[in-house]
Order: sequence, then structure tokens, then C-alpha cells
Amino acid sequence: MSENKSYYERHIFFCLNQREGNEDCCARHKAQAAFDRCKSQAKAQGLLEPGKVRVNKAGCLDRCAGGPIAVVYPEAVWYSYVDESDIDEIVQSHLRDGVVVQRLLTPPDVGR
Ligand code: FES
Repeated sequence: MSENKSYYERHIFFCLNQREGNEDCCARHKAQAAFDRCKSQAKAQGLLEPGKVRVNKAGCLDRCAGGPIAVVYPEAVWYSYVDESDIDEIVQSHLRDGVVVQRLLTPPDVGR
């Protein structure tokens, strides 16, 4: 194996942060359901094999204003998704085929 080969081909992190009180957070926008959907769809596509794709939970990624948020490495592509069909598109287009889903990109100036 080449020393430069990444352990995973692609790695997606979902912010699942839950805040107390009235502060907004990704957990309030069905982030857990999106994470679960991503895992099941990636599995159905055969992407969860060794060396392929890893789907991980994350805490706040500090881009809450664009939430719910997910980020894919190694491309460092940030997504603001809305529903299950968005997740399915990220899985099939980006995680499986390596094609970034332009319509779901988090605007570059969006932060906390
Ligand atoms: S709460 Fe999700 S990015 Fe901050």
C-alpha cells in the first residue's frame, strides 16, 4: 500500500450538536435522521467497505447558520442539506461517484 493513500476514500461528518434553551442547532433540523439515512444509503450502495467511505457523527462544526451541516473530506466540501433526497444525492453523487453536489453547497461566508 502506498504511504500516501488515505485510510478512507471519503469521510463525511454530520454535525449532531444539540443546544439547550432556544439557541438553534443542527439537531433541531433532523440531523440525526440525516446521519442515519446517510449510513443506511451508503451501506446499501456498498460504500461502507474497508478503505471506502466512513460516516461519522460530529459536534458543532461552527457553521451553524448554514445548518444542518455536513462536511466531506478529503475534498473539504461543506453541505447544507434539507431532506432525505438531499442526503441520497450526496451519497450517490459525491460519496459514490466523486461528483460534488453544487446545489447543496454551504455558501463560503456562512459561519456560526
Ligand atoms: S450546531 Fe451544527 S454547525 Fe454548529
